Amino acid sequence: MSGYFITLEGIEGVGKTTNLHYIRETLERSGREVVVTREPGGTPLGEEVRNLLLTPREERIADMAELLLVFAARAQHLAAVIEPALARGAWVLCDRFTDATFAYQGGGRQLDAAPVAALEQLVQGARRPDLTILLDLPVTEGLARARARSTPDRFESEKVEFFERVREAYLARAACEPDRIAVIDAAPSLEQVQRQIDRALARLEPGHDR
Ligand code: TMP
Repeated sequence: MSGYFITLEGIEGVGKTTNLHYIRETLERSGREVVVTREPGGTPLGEEVRNLLLTPREERIADMAELLLVFAARAQHLAAVIEPALARGAWVLCDRFTDATFAYQGGGRQLDAAPVAALEQLVQGARRPDLTILLDLPVTEGLARARARSTPDRFESEKVEFFERVREAYLARAACEPDRIAVIDAAPSLEQVQRQIDRALARLEPGHDR
C-alpha cells in the first residue's frame, strides 16, 4: 500500500522546524517508516539548486528562472526520493512543496498562477500531498522570529509586503482546499499548536471522514 504524503508550509518564522520534528516523532511512534525531506532540496542536485536560490547575489534572478529552478529541483526530488518512498509504503514528510511555489512565486513574485499550475501538472502528474499543514502567523511576528535567528537569505531579505502576499496566497489556497490544507494558528503555546497538529494528522486515520 502506498504511504501518505504530508507537507508542511508557512512563511518564515512560523516554527516549521520544531513542528516537523514533532510530526516525525508522532508518526514514528505509531510504527511508520517516515522519510523526512525538504524543498527546495532533498537530493544532492536539489540541495545545489537550493543554494542557488537562497544565496543572496547581485544578479537579479528572473521570476521565470526562479520558478523553473524550483521545479527542476522538484522533478529530481520526486523521481529520486518521494515517489520511491511512497511506493514502498513509507510516509513522506516534506518541509515545503508546491503550495510554496504558488505562495512565493505566485503570490510573492506575482507570477500568474497558470504557468505554476502547468508545471505542477507536467512535473507531478497526479501527485499531490494527502495532507498539508499550514502554520500561520501574522507576517511581522514571523519575520521578527526568523530575523532574530540568522542572517537573512535571498527570500528573507524581501520586504514585508512580499510576505503579506505570500501569506495571503497560502490562506487563499487553504480556503479553496480545506480538506487537504489544515491551517494551524502558530501564535499560541507550542503545546496548543501541537494539539492542533494532532487533530490535522487524525484526518489521515482510517475511517476518518475527510
Ligand atoms: P526554508 O525551507 O528554509 O524555509 O527556505 C526555503 C525558501 O525557499 C523559503 O523562503 C521559501 C522558498 N521557496 C520558494 O520560493 N518556492 C518554493 O517552491 C519552495 C519549495 C520554497
